[in-house]
Amino acid sequence: MKPLEIGFIGLGRMGQNMVSKMLSSKTVRVVVWNRDQQKVQKMVEQGAVGAQDIQELLGLLKQSRKIVWLMLPAGEVTEAMFNKVLPLLKSDDIIIDGANSNYKDSKRRHRLAKERGVDMLDVGVSGGIIAAQTGYPMMVGGKQEVFDYLAPIFNSFGITEGVDLVGGQGAGHYVKMIHNAIEYGMMQAIAEGFDLLKNGSMENLDLKKISHLWNHGTIVSSFLMQMTESALKKDVSLEQIKAFVADSGEGKWSVEEAIANDVPFIANTYALQARFQSRDPNSFTFKLLAALRNEFGGHAVSKED
Ligand SMILES: NC(=O)c1ccc[n+]([C@@H]2O[C@H](COP(=O)([O-])OP(=O)(O)OC[C@H]3O[C@@H](n4cnc5c(N)ncnc54)[C@H](OP(=O)(O)O)[C@@H]3O)[C@@H](O)[C@H]2O)c1
Repeated sequence: MKPLEIGFIGLGRMGQNMVSKMLSSKTVRVVVWNRDQQKVQKMVEQGAVGAQDIQELLGLLKQSRKIVWLMLPAGEVTEAMFNKVLPLLKSDDIIIDGANSNYKDSKRRHRLAKERGVDMLDVGVSGGIIAAQTGYPMMVGGKQEVFDYLAPIFNSFGITEGVDLVGGQGAGHYVKMIHNAIEYGMMQAIAEGFDLLKNGSMENLDLKKISHLWNHGTIVSSFLMQMTESALKKDVSLEQIKAFVADSGEGKWSVEEAIANDVPFIANTYALQARFQSRDPNSFTFKLLAALRNEFGGHAVSKED
């Protein structure tokens, strides 16, 4: 059987490594496009076919059922590319969104694709940059037939147990959204634990040693604990790192979903709020709290220099 071929759009941190993984499996023919063409060249050197624009990418796909994978920032960029690619596809072709898209957008895009007879899968990709070595876990939403058809492609990402169809339209991104919210909660718990180890009453604890130990058979050993060990190994003081934590939407959407359905979501909501709190070194809340204590109890207020 001839290997499946795929058109892959977006060679960022995820896309480049995912394409490398597919190419190294030697089971998929990959045609790539990226805005910065230097990255296309890099992939061509590894065996991909390079395209200079989207029209050319589709022209270079020779099989009758064309498959196009978008691996772009969620939101406007994915929306614009989806709207560009969809009219160029015909009935039975397949479009895949591997971004961390909002599942509501994905459900809408499934509907738009269906109107043209095009099949769609929404895929929540996990694993971050380390997945280049360990393989890419994927939560897939869409039709079983399409998922099965793409099995050689999913298998080429180097992990089989961690890839599955989790439901219909939008389910892949819905499950990924909640996965990422859980990630926030777990990261927050680890970070706070290490803060207490560092700043609690037991002096001079060796955080590197503890993170290493905790990665060996303890209940909290985990991928995130390995990342903790790795970060502390680089610089245990974290002096160069600003205490500012961004978020990319999935935590917020999960909290909205929990509220809409009256589902308690305490730890993960708290973790999201903690990220918001990290962003303002001149927090008005804390200034007002300090001022209030001063007003009612005459407690001292620390002044700016
Ligand atoms: N990083 C992770 O750990 C991770 C894990 C799971 C899922 N994801 C999801 O995977 C997707 C890609 O993430 P990433 O980390 O690979 O992002 P990234 O490194 O920032 O790469 C973004 C990609 O999108 C392209 N792009 C950005 N703006 C564009 C525009 N206006 N028009 C055309 N192309 C544009 C970039 O092209 P240029 O090269 O030309 O800039 C690049 O190929 C995101 O949806 C992200 O949420 C990321």
